[in-house]
Amino acid sequence: MELVTTVQQVRQQVKAWRKEGLTVGLVPTMGFLHEGHQSLIARAAKENDRVVVSVFVNPIQFGPNEDFAQYPRDLEQDSALCEATGASLLFHPEPEEMYPEHFSTHVDVDGVTENLCGARRPGHFRGVCTVVSKLFHIVAPDRAYFGEKDAQQLAVIRRMVRDLNFDIEIVGCPIVREADGLAKSSRNTYLSPQERRAALVLNRALTAGRTAMERGERRAQAILSIIRDELDEEERANVDYVKMVDSVTMEDVETAQRDVLVAIAVYIGKTRLIDNFTFHVE
Ligand code: PAF
Repeated sequence: MELVTTVQQVRQQVKAWRKEGLTVGLVPTMGFLHEGHQSLIARAAKENDRVVVSVFVNPIQFGPNEDFAQYPRDLEQDSALCEATGASLLFHPEPEEMYPEHFSTHVDVDGVTENLCGARRPGHFRGVCTVVSKLFHIVAPDRAYFGEKDAQQLAVIRRMVRDLNFDIEIVGCPIVREADGLAKSSRNTYLSPQERRAALVLNRALTAGRTAMERGERRAQAILSIIRDELDEEERANVDYVKMVDSVTMEDVETAQRDVLVAIAVYIGKTRLIDNFTFHVE
């Protein structure tokens, strides 16, 4: 596996692969890779001849009071994990490579970005869509892989790809959890041992909501209050949002019909964690 830092190096390599008639998968990441990312890389390696993993902590998707500076970074470990999982190229650009002087073009997706994390993190999806568009143009992959933990991000990227006619298949991959149910996240490293235990409340609360739905409950208000009650039991947890939305539009729904996303964002201490499940109503 090769590690490159410039757009030109990526383009040259992909061009050479294309000449050989090879297919290319892209896994965009912000690094500090865990088994969740690994599952994306493994899937990409299974479905494509070559896999590009990008590791770039994208400054423009963080708000002024968010954790850009302290976001965990470990390129050596990331590189080893990528290689072991079947990646062919690791793209690790400097911010100046992605955002040269006078950079002034952004990608805004309306509607689907306005609820959930979009409402709580102004400018976040503008930053995500801009960097992901750039990566799509740089790599021009056949397929790109994203985790379902960031369910709204996945819906936003699917919309952007459809609206802007990117010729790229977007592949969503299931949430990977720790043995005790906590969804894998690079931000879990911020948690103290007590907070790590407290964080289990996210999965517990969602499981209670899902169980109610499996028993036939369809009213959003009833399901969301079951989830909130469970979250309120944990004194270290501060709810940012608990929502049931249409899984395509990300708009609130009153009653579960077809595919709905039940999504939560919860602060455990200072760490903001997200988790979700989708539910299909026959
Ligand atoms: O999900 C992430 O890690 C990031 O939002 C992404 C898609 C790599 C864009 O920076």
